Amino acid sequence: LGIGFGKDIARPGQPGSLLASRAKLPAAYQVPLPIPAVARPASTAGGTDHYAITQRPANARLLPGGLVTPLWTYGGTFPGPTIVAKRGRPVTVAHRNELDRPSVVHLHGGHTPHDSDGYPIDLIMPAGMKDMGGMHDSMPGMPRMPGMTLPKGDVTQGSRTYSYPSQQRAATLWYHDHVMGFTGPGVWHGLAGFHLVTDDEEAALPLPRGDRDIPLMIADRSFAADGSFQYPAAPHGDPGVTRSWINGVLGDVVLVNGAPWPTLEVDRARYRFRILNASNARRYRLQLDPQPAGGGALVQIGSDGGLLDRPRPHDRIDIAQAERFDVVVDFSRYKPGTQVELRNLFASGGPGKVMRFTVRSTSGAADDSRVPAKLSAIEPLAAGSATVTRSFLFQRKGDGTGMGWTINGEDYHPGRTLAAPRLGRVERWRFVTDVHHPIHVHLDPFQVVARNGASPGEYDHGWKDTIDLRSAESAEVLVRFSDYSGRFLLHCHNLEHEDMGMMADFTAS
Ligand code: C2O
Ligand code: CU
Repeated sequence: LGIGFGKDIARPGQPGSLLASRAKLPAAYQVPLPIPAVARPASTAGGTDHYAITQRPANARLLPGGLVTPLWTYGGTFPGPTIVAKRGRPVTVAHRNELDRPSVVHLHGGHTPHDSDGYPIDLIMPAGMKDMGGMHDSMPGMPRMPGMTLPKGDVTQGSRTYSYPSQQRAATLWYHDHVMGFTGPGVWHGLAGFHLVTDDEEAALPLPRGDRDIPLMIADRSFAADGSFQYPAAPHGDPGVTRSWINGVLGDVVLVNGAPWPTLEVDRARYRFRILNASNARRYRLQLDPQPAGGGALVQIGSDGGLLDRPRPHDRIDIAQAERFDVVVDFSRYKPGTQVELRNLFASGGPGKVMRFTVRSTSGAADDSRVPAKLSAIEPLAAGSATVTRSFLFQRKGDGTGMGWTINGEDYHPGRTLAAPRLGRVERWRFVTDVHHPIHVHLDPFQVVARNGASPGEYDHGWKDTIDLRSAESAEVLVRFSDYSGRFLLHCHNLEHEDMGMMADFTAS
């Protein structure tokens, strides 16, 4: 399938109508950090937790001055409700689509059978909508894919129930929209939420828990003058950024759990933060400011696929789109009353704000948590047992227009498979990039064994499902798919790259 592009596409240096007027930006550090509500199962019959989520429009007040931001939501909030699943206990989620666009739900990081994995043409149509006709109308200003039609997948009317076996390690997963060609706008407008898997191994560790175990969904957005999310967003207040839509959509406000540059009061105690970069196209280099004496403030305990073998302290963390870093921060290393900013060193024009912690001056905050020296056992996949090596080149479309993105020269075509791995066998996958691409593989996580021909990087530890590759980088990973046969996806998690073709099927059997 060729994704067609009209001539009204934004090109670098040609922002044109994309530069609509903007809302007055909110002041930073005014809003308390919201914590997404944990979903309650509608029933727990037969050893399975059954959830029901209605996808629907909702209005939020994210900005000062009474402006309203219309959202597309899971259950009325952005982020959507957090689903907490226990390893080995299956979950179903019945999604009802009351939006004015088709939707698809993918559980990112889920070890999920094909028919519940959110294949991008397996649409949930809103009741009464027959085709993609309304799709473009629902996104005024979206400059692409005129007349695009999707091949017909397993389309359902009104709702669809996804089944998640939960046969996987404890990990911070997330769910988000995944409609072919329209994932960027779907997530941008609010279709994202956390899905945590817990297990006994993790529960036995003395890590911070309860209200000191906090998910942080970081996502940049831009606002139009009327308060609505502006998509695509043109560079604004971010003078170093000249990237246009082809390079992904950036925002000029950083939301954490849906709130602009929020604040959190913390005890002088350890906290676990499950950091997710849910941005469409922005990478962050996160650092606490000030750093505590001795550094190493961000103690990483987990990555995309759950606990690391042992904790790894970082001064800063580079996090690409869709990656998760589970970190423990010990605020007892700060004096009472200290204000600690979480900053993004990758923001152009100097460190950008993300959020701010205020260390309470009240004494007596009990803390019996600690970070054990050994967290988990990670079975290394044996490189020697890899029988197949496959290479995937992620690059700009080479057809002369350059208006698209490809894997091995192909843009996305449902049903055209780029690899046919056998279940249970270890394979070596090589990824090569032209520019920055965060590369994501569905079905099973992988282990990074080389980056640019050398050792893996400091953020490559543990089980990963997304690897952050910068310009002209390469990586080798070992992967062993298991349990579920059928078509799955690998793609770039720059959501605009994904929408513009940088996605492929692999077929497991
Ligand atoms: Cu987070 Cu295929 O996606
Ligand atoms: Cu990309």
